[in-house]
Amino acid sequence: MNLDFNRRLSIAPMLDCTDRHERYFLRLISKNILLYSEMVVSTGLIHCKDTGIFLEHEDCELPAVLQLGGSYPNELAEASKLVERAGFNEVNLNCGCPSDRVQNGNFGACLMKDKNLVADCFKAMQDAVSIPVSIKCRIGVDEFDSWEFFRDFVGTLADAGCRIFIIHARKAWLKGLSPKENREVPPLKYEFVHKLKAEMPHLNISLNGGIKTLDQVEEQLKDLDGVMVGREAYENPWFLRDADERIFGSTDTPVSSRKALLEAYLPYVEKEFAKGTPATILTRHLYGLFTGLPGARKFRQVLSQGAPKTKDAAEMLRRAMDFVVEE
Ligand SMILES: Cc1cc2nc3c(=O)[nH]c(=O)nc-3n(C[C@H](O)[C@H](O)[C@H](O)COP(=O)(O)O)c2cc1C
Repeated sequence: MNLDFNRRLSIAPMLDCTDRHERYFLRLISKNILLYSEMVVSTGLIHCKDTGIFLEHEDCELPAVLQLGGSYPNELAEASKLVERAGFNEVNLNCGCPSDRVQNGNFGACLMKDKNLVADCFKAMQDAVSIPVSIKCRIGVDEFDSWEFFRDFVGTLADAGCRIFIIHARKAWLKGLSPKENREVPPLKYEFVHKLKAEMPHLNISLNGGIKTLDQVEEQLKDLDGVMVGREAYENPWFLRDADERIFGSTDTPVSSRKALLEAYLPYVEKEFAKGTPATILTRHLYGLFTGLPGARKFRQVLSQGAPKTKDAAEMLRRAMDFVVEE
């Protein structure tokens, strides 16, 4: 099993956000960040006639991880095989999402209450593939929020053979809070993640939740193996600009400006639009790129109003860029 690719900085799985277009776009900013897919429900994947809808990606997106949601070991094993065959570097099991839809399917964060089932799921997945299987979880759920509960959950999975954990460092309330509130209201407890790494140093531990700057990433990496960033990477992708140099020690020249980044993205837009991908899908991830700069609002406006009806997505994107004053 190859555990070697670098997990120092990863981009969180985000439904309706980290699709293959967003991953392609982020890869243009950093060659080294680890990219997670949106969650794919295992039942849907294995019964889907065209699995490409979920699994299609460009080689340049790699290293990339596909996240599965599910709680039937057999289905998760089947789905993991498809993920491996498609070329992803790792498959991840979602034990952190608190949405009603996910709870109704008995997966996501509610799985934290059944560590033995999660261990069975993990084992079935890992037995089915030779790529690593990782777990993304919270530090607790509902009233199960003690250190002992959290340590026991991770310990059970570690005993089952899991070595890679991504911890969203707040608990989830399964009733009464929306998924959005569940990303904001329960307090962050980074100390749980640090204590875990100190007690179980053989595990590869990434911290997730509330990280917004590369300074914060560097601070966490003093003690942990990795940091995962979600919303900031989506809403303000330019913060990743120096990631290759600062986090991965790469000497490659980073992309020189936001407009240069979009220039690099344009051929992809042309190619995908010609294949029939809607302009809205290709440009919705770009809204936050120029935040704070003169013309940023107009940029967003041209994209949001123009994309549904444009006949030339690349031309529209060029036109939108012209409104922004970068320096
Ligand atoms: C729009 C959105 C969709 C999300 N979808 C998923 C998902 O599919 N799977 C998952 O494990 N977490 C999902 N999350 C949670 C993120 O992966 C991450 O744990 C959370 O946003 C906290 O990290 P952050 O503070 O850096 O954003 C989602 C978050 C957002 C904002």
